[in-house]
Amino acid sequence: AAPAALRAQLLRWYDAHRRDLPWRRASGGEEERAYAVWVSEVMLQQTRVPVVVGYYERWMARWPTVRSLAAATQEEVNEMWAGLGYYRRARFLLEGAKQIVEKGEFPRTASALREVRGIGDYTAGAIASIAFNEVVPVVDGNVVRVLSRLHAIADNPKESSTMKRFWELAGQLVDPLRPGDFNQAMMELGATLCSKTKPGCTGCPVSSHCQALALSLENSSVQVTDF
Ligand code: ADE
Repeated sequence: AAPAALRAQLLRWYDAHRRDLPWRRASGGEEERAYAVWVSEVMLQQTRVPVVVGYYERWMARWPTVRSLAAATQEEVNEMWAGLGYYRRARFLLEGAKQIVEKGEFPRTASALREVRGIGDYTAGAIASIAFNEVVPVVDGNVVRVLSRLHAIADNPKESSTMKRFWELAGQLVDPLRPGDFNQAMMELGATLCSKTKPGCTGCPVSSHCQALALSLENSSVQVTDF
């Protein structure tokens, strides 16, 4: 295929359409950005963007740094988390913050980030690429759908071998100069135009690279399996 063209088209679309979200505004140093991305990505794991925005802003007003979070109690954190569900995620954030403060610095690579309590492949990839510019992919449910359509892959993403393939494909595709923007663009494309039903192919920046569209499979259930 032509990954360079696909990358350029996707990034141009993202630059024009990216939503102005509080965690994307994060200024300050890389560590501050890493903390902001971490909190937002954990919140986004089971909750939609419009709901997360309010929680994120309250959380960051109370605990603006990983150090301040590490000094919080589980009760305070749970109280702040109330309504987001899956309290295990909040517990991991607190435990992870303590781990990072104890260590003395924010881990800067996906592989080092994976050692932190509660940080898996997805969150590690998001923090490393968005905050530290590491050229690593991110694969979530939206990215699975985009890649399934781009490559007309009908394999079940609930199989670990299929997910391995998606991570490999995403790794080949990620833009070497703007990995964080590229990953967010893939997620954003999957969350908006490349939807489960009625994908917006006419407005899609990468439709010319899409195997599913070329094969008239863009509305096939084959490409929309949840994972
Ligand atoms: N969904 C979860 N995290 C996201 C991000 N950083 N950008 C776009 N969509 C997302």
